Order: sequence, then structure tokens, then C-alpha cells
Amino acid sequence: MNETKNKYQIEYENSTSLFWEAKPAKFVSYFVKEVPLDFNDLNVLDLGAGEGKNSVYLANLGANVTAVDVSDIALSRFALQPNYTKCAAKIKQIQADIRTVNFSPFHFDVIIAYGVFHCFSHKQEIYSIIQKIKSWTKTDGYFIGLTFTDKIPPPEVQDYLDIEAFLKENELQSLFSDWHIIASENDIITETHSTSKIQHQHSLTRLIAKK
Ligand SMILES: C[S@@+](CC[C@H](N)C(=O)[O-])C[C@H]1O[C@@H](n2cnc3c(N)ncnc32)[C@H](O)[C@@H]1O
Repeated sequence: MNETKNKYQIEYENSTSLFWEAKPAKFVSYFVKEVPLDFNDLNVLDLGAGEGKNSVYLANLGANVTAVDVSDIALSRFALQPNYTKCAAKIKQIQADIRTVNFSPFHFDVIIAYGVFHCFSHKQEIYSIIQKIKSWTKTDGYFIGLTFTDKIPPPEVQDYLDIEAFLKENELQSLFSDWHIIASENDIITETHSTSKIQHQHSLTRLIAKK
């Protein structure tokens, strides 16, 4: 396995434009449609924000977004998201490893971790950051997440991913069993990235929970 510090950096280095689709993620769109919130000046933390598709979407709804990603290339591509310039002042970028960052307790209304936990080296790191996420979330605040599960091992084309950091199906839901589960699903996706062009599958789980 490739032990690079940032497991998607190779994909960013090998692409010249947006690597991920520019539209917000499935459960982020669902959250905005189904949960009646005024996003104006809500504090949102986007962990492993990537190229900013979720951060820019929520900042355009008025949220103050703190976007953390370890990749300088990913963060530089926020500017390529549609409507970025309209909301740039609402976004604070932090280039850092999310396992090392810290925030004040009860600071965020919404915390997103979409596709980042499976980039860790071991599940213990996921358990540890979830405890921190719970402490950083305001009472009545929300968590929106997606992570890979071990039903399907990492595909050969992404051998930089480590199955040691893949949760069991429904494990993410169990880790939030002390919160109210608003929506959750296990899924299998088939995708082809612009870099390798090799079709592959991932098993994953999505969750929206309220503190
Ligand atoms: C699968 S991508 C998802 C990006 C974005 N959340 C989205 O939904 O499009 C995972 C992102 O997490 C970042 N990442 C991986 N490990 C990280 C870590 N330990 N700390 C911060 N960011 C990390 C990668 O650079 C990458 O941009």
C-alpha cells in the first residue's frame, strides 16, 4: 500500500481541473431540502472539504464555512466551483490534517465529514475524531457524513486506501446512536475517475444525525 500522507493528493496532482463533480453531495443536498434551517450565518465545519463543492454550496446559502483539507491543490480549486466569487468571503480555508486540528466546544451548527474518514490509517482515528466532532457541535446541531465500508475492499486502482480505516456497515450509525438519526443508508457506487479511467466500486455508508 502507498503510504502517502494525503491519500487523494496523487489524484489532484494528476488532474488539471476539478477531480470531483461540482454539485453538492447527495446527503448535503438532502439535508438542505429536508431540514428546515435558515443557513444565514450558521457555523459550518467541512472536514476533508476537497475542492469545495459542499462548502461553496452552503456558503452561498449564507453559512459561515470553515473548510479544512490537507491538500493545497484541492483548496486552490475552490475558485473553480460555480458561484465561488459570490461567497468567497464566507469561507475560511485551513490547510491541515483534520486529526490534528482543534476547535471550541459547541461552536458549529453543522459538521460535514464527507469521504474523509476512510483516508485515515486506522478505525481508531475515526472513533477519536467522532468524539471531537461531537464536542465541537452545538446542542441541536447536525453531523453529515459519508465513509467507505469494508463490504468491498479498496480497489486496486486506489491502493493508497487502507481497509483498516473502513467501517463495518451500520457502524457509523452506531457511533452516533446517542444522537437522533435523521437519515442513513448503506450503498454501493460504481465510478470512474478522470485520472485512471478504470471503473471500480465502493461500498459506503451515509448519515445525517442531530445532536
Ligand atoms: C474523497 S475526498 C472528498 C472531498 C469532499 N469532501 C467531497 O465530498 O467532494 C477526501 C478529501 O479528504 C482530504 N483528506 C484526506 N485525509 C485528510 C486528513 N487527514 N486531513 C484533512 N484532509 C484530508 C483529501 O485531500 C480529499 O480532498
